[in-house]
Parts: sequence; structure tokens; C-alpha cells
Amino acid sequence: MSSQDTKTTRLADIATAMTAVTEAAAISASRWIGLGRKEDGDGAAVEAMRAAFNEQAIDATIVIGEGEKDEAPMLYSGERLGLGGPAVDIAIDPVEGTTLLAKGMPGAIAVLAAAPANTMFRPGPAFYMNKLVVPPAARGAIDPNAPVEAQLKALGKAVGKPVSQLRVFVLERPRHEKLIADIRAAGASCRLVSDGDVLGSLFAVLGDRVDALMGVGGTPEGVISACVARALGGDMFGMMAPQSDEEKAKVEEFGLKPGQILTRDELVSSDEVIFAATGITGDDMLGGVRKVNGRTRTETLLIGGGNQMLRWLTTDRLLND
Ligand code: FBP
Repeated sequence: MSSQDTKTTRLADIATAMTAVTEAAAISASRWIGLGRKEDGDGAAVEAMRAAFNEQAIDATIVIGEGEKDEAPMLYSGERLGLGGPAVDIAIDPVEGTTLLAKGMPGAIAVLAAAPANTMFRPGPAFYMNKLVVPPAARGAIDPNAPVEAQLKALGKAVGKPVSQLRVFVLERPRHEKLIADIRAAGASCRLVSDGDVLGSLFAVLGDRVDALMGVGGTPEGVISACVARALGGDMFGMMAPQSDEEKAKVEEFGLKPGQILTRDELVSSDEVIFAATGITGDDMLGGVRKVNGRTRTETLLIGGGNQMLRWLTTDRLLND
């Protein structure tokens, strides 16, 4: 076995450990479903995720976490976790969809992406990113600078559908009024969703429910989405899209240009990515945390490790709660 094979195997080996981390976060967050206290739910997930990381045989560096060290006591960007082992970059979102959690609505997940050390983009203060995510058939076929109509034509050609049959995942926000109008004017339709563009990116890469994701969402979620795209052979572009003068100034000071476009491979430069997501509130992709026969059931989706597999793990645990 070559050293490259060994390295790949070792990263793939931590995949199951990563599911323990998202499951711990989801179980803790689930105690806050529908209680209207998104910070508390997020805080519980952060604590559980951090404790679970520290039980794993990895040398993890949080690249995308809860913020800088001075504002986030746990899972801050730069924090090192784990018992030692393969050196990995980690992007986390202990609760992706905090509002969904607080309102008891479908679609909140605990999620992370892992990749070999120093292969993930460090976004610094860049909070917002304009994203374009498409399935493998459209990789290399879309010009990120083209107007929406031209992008949809190219997408339709690549995936073998007329534009009228294309559907695009877009976060429902006032800032997307023109984007939504442009998609509809081109003849395609929108799936408008209140929160959760990591799941939207996953749907887009799989060509499941939608054929693409477009629009501005969080940069951390963007890096996790790039990991999904890379793990499954899809494509993604992320354009720096600061939404305030303050963010714009910080982004420039950090050395990034507003409007600068990053490719999928600039967002994550290794094929050895791992993506793990556990449902919290549950939707038709991933069931939420629930009691079954006195045990706590979680549903987790695990992707990657260099083999393009999707694994669905249903686990029933005895918990004292
Ligand atoms: P949170 O879990 O941090 O609330 O993020 C939910 C989300 O919808 C993300 O999926 C998305 O990237 C981001 O918020 C968009 O930000 P905003 O709500 O500010 O438009």
C-alpha cells in the first residue's frame, strides 16, 4: 500500500468518528427544539460537539468555527481538538438552521466537514458569500460571471433538461428579489427556503429536488458546501459578498476582494473530504432526533473519504435523560 493510500485510508477511518461528533451535537440541540431560544440550543450543541471531538483519535484544527477566540469560548477558529492522530482541518456548524431549531421547523442539522490539514479556505471575517452549486454533470460548464439566464441555459444543456424544467434552491431573502425574478424570467422555477443552504447545496449536487443553488448565504456554510461538492464531484463557485460596509472593510483588510470568486478547489483543495450531517428537527432527507422504544434515534448522512459514497446511519442509543 502506498503512503498516499495509507493517508487516504487514515482519513477515511475517521469518518465514523465524525458521525459521533455530529450525533452528539444533534442530541444536545434536540432538547431545545421549539423552545424559541436559538442561542441556548446552539450553545448546547457547541459544548457537546467539542466534548465529542476530544474523545476522537484525531489532531483537528477548527478552521471554521463559532468565531474568533476572543468572541467564542469553544470551537473558535484555530482551536486544536482531539486525542492525536491524522491532522485535519475542520469546518463545523453545530446547528445549521438555528431559527428552524428554535421554531421546531424541519431542516435543522448538526454538520461538519473534515479535510487534510491546510486544505480548507480560511474565510477570516468574510461572513457572506454568493454561491453557485451544481451537480457533477455541470462541472466546468457554467461561467460564474455570466448572467443568470446564460448560466441556466448552460446548466440545462449539461444536465439534459430544458430550462423550463430546472429548479433552483434560493434562500428567501429581500436581497434575492432580483435573482428570483431573473430565474423566473429565464423560464426556470425556484425552491424558496427560509434557512439552511448547506442542505440546499447537498440537494443541488445530488440533483435531488433542485438542479442548482444560487444566492448569498454564510461563508462558513459555503466552505462546508464546497466540501460536499468536492466529495461528490459537483461544482461550486463562491463569490465574496459582504453585506455591510463594516464587513467589506474587514474583508479587504484580511486580503480578500469583495466580488472575488473562489472555485470549489480553492475552497477545499483535497478530494479526501468528509462530510457528516445529523438531523435535529428532521425532514424528508434526514430524520430528526427522536425516541424509539425507549432509545434515542439519530439519522446521519456520511459522505466522502475519497470514495464518493453516501452512507446513511440510523443509530438507537440508550441515554440517561
Ligand atoms: P444559522 O443556523 O446560523 O441561523 O444559519 C442559517 C442560514 O440560513 C444558513 O443556512 C445560511 O447560509 C445563512 O443562515 C444565511 O444568513 P442570513 O440568515 O443572514 O441571510
